[in-house]
Amino acid sequence: MDWDDAAEAWDEGRAQRAYAAAAFESLRRAVGGLGRSLEGARVCDFGCGTGLMTERLAPLAAHVDAVDTSRAMLEVLRAKIERSGWDHVAPRAQTPRDGEAYDLIVCSSVCAFLDDYPGTVRDLVQRLAPGGLFVQWDWALDPDSDEPFGLTPGAVRACLEGAGLQDVSVETAFEVTVDEQTMRPLMGVGRKPTG
Ligand SMILES: C[S@@+](CC[C@H](N)C(=O)[O-])C[C@H]1O[C@@H](n2cnc3c(N)ncnc32)[C@H](O)[C@@H]1O
Repeated sequence: MDWDDAAEAWDEGRAQRAYAAAAFESLRRAVGGLGRSLEGARVCDFGCGTGLMTERLAPLAAHVDAVDTSRAMLEVLRAKIERSGWDHVAPRAQTPRDGEAYDLIVCSSVCAFLDDYPGTVRDLVQRLAPGGLFVQWDWALDPDSDEPFGLTPGAVRACLEGAGLQDVSVETAFEVTVDEQTMRPLMGVGRKPTG
């Protein structure tokens, strides 16, 4: 998939917007349910695209590193950052190797597209602060589909636990129907050990 080609029209997609809004609400619920807050959090939005999740996190977070390999996606996000005056949001082509650790790393509809999902998650978890949260949303794999795509709950759990995360949960994040297409993605959540 060439994500650069998708960048210009990405935010016009009703499904993309509905997915991002529902994912953000599921994030609020998950974070709140764990007794945490997005207020003042240091966040990495990995695979941020045009920033549909970043723009919801930005009014709350202390800092957001918005990481994406697509130059064109980041260009759309840069224009939003400029319009909004968010000097605490940093668009990046790569996750910084060092710097302050993150309280939260989110991957919204990214992991199923990665060449090395477990390796990427292991690297990201290194950048989490002790007790920090990793949250991903992905299409649930339907093996009976004509073109199976996505991740199984078992694969998500194995990946997060394999990366050393604790208290892993994998569940249906939300159900939203747009233009007769019903989206029921998985949400995987894990916490980096404190000890
Ligand atoms: C389906 S889009 C989701 C974009 C955004 N998270 C959203 O929900 O609107 C997947 C994004 O992952 C990015 N991506 C794919 N592989 C990546 C990688 N290895 N590192 C960072 N971003 C990546 C793509 O460039 C694309 O913007």
